[in-house]
Amino acid sequence: MIEGPTEELMSDDLSAAGRTFEAVGQPVLVLNDVTRHFKQGSETLEVLKGGQLQIDAGQIVALVGPSGSGKSTLLQIAGLLEPPTSGQVWLAGRDASRANEAERTRLRRDHLGFVYQFHHLLPEFSALENVAMPRIIQGASKVEAEARARQLLTDMGLEHRLEHRPARLSGGEQQRVAIARALANDPALLLADEPTGNLDPETGHRVFELLMQAARQYGLSALIATHNLDMAAHMDRRVTLHDGVIVEL
Ligand SMILES: Nc1ncnc2c1ncn2[C@@H]1O[C@H](COP(=O)(O)OP(=O)(O)OP(=O)(O)O)[C@@H](O)[C@H]1O
Ligand SMILES: [Mg+2]
Repeated sequence: MIEGPTEELMSDDLSAAGRTFEAVGQPVLVLNDVTRHFKQGSETLEVLKGGQLQIDAGQIVALVGPSGSGKSTLLQIAGLLEPPTSGQVWLAGRDASRANEAERTRLRRDHLGFVYQFHHLLPEFSALENVAMPRIIQGASKVEAEARARQLLTDMGLEHRLEHRPARLSGGEQQRVAIARALANDPALLLADEPTGNLDPETGHRVFELLMQAARQYGLSALIATHNLDMAAHMDRRVTLHDGVIVEL
């Protein structure tokens, strides 16, 4: 069992907590014996059956495994979007399993970035506005949020696409905007579910390289589900789900 952080290291003021937990050497994410069961009529489907996962600051971890093994389910739980059936989720020094809904929302807003297979950008807004939005929701001024958005889009090689709406961008460009958006709130942990799964291999490779570069540059930790073993090989660690149990490869 991995020990969770001690009570005295936990801040009650999450908005001011920032990434201070990293300074005291706490892991970014700890999943402690997490299970997830789905009830289907009289049957119970046991998708996750425990195991441990700890991700330290700056680590980029691949989550691999066959279709249906529970990767997306695990990411939903790590992202505090669904509670586990049992077990604990520690995020940024907090026991999220004991947090209420408002605290979980704040933990997500302040510490997590999400990238999915499909970009989920807002169609009525420009690339710049889409990327600025999470920062504005976090309380930053429009000027500050847009300056950061411009920088992130430039990091993604999109400085010439700031005013484009999503429909006028290519698939690879849309996904690069989605990555920039996920980084807007300076998250400690990036969670990505097959971020290049919808792209052709060459574009996917380029987008993955940009994602890794940005993650290193900003000192992010990441948990990235992928079917691409070549990409997984370029990450720091690889984990999989063996019959629902998290194991290190
Ligand atoms: N809300 C739900 N209700 C019932 N069963 C679910 C639910 N969500 C997921 N499952 C089941 O859990 C199992 C794991 O699904 P999950 O989407 O986590 O797999 P995955 O590893 O992400 O697969 P893929 O590689 O195809 O994306 C599947 O059998 C799926 O049917
Ligand atoms: Mg999945």
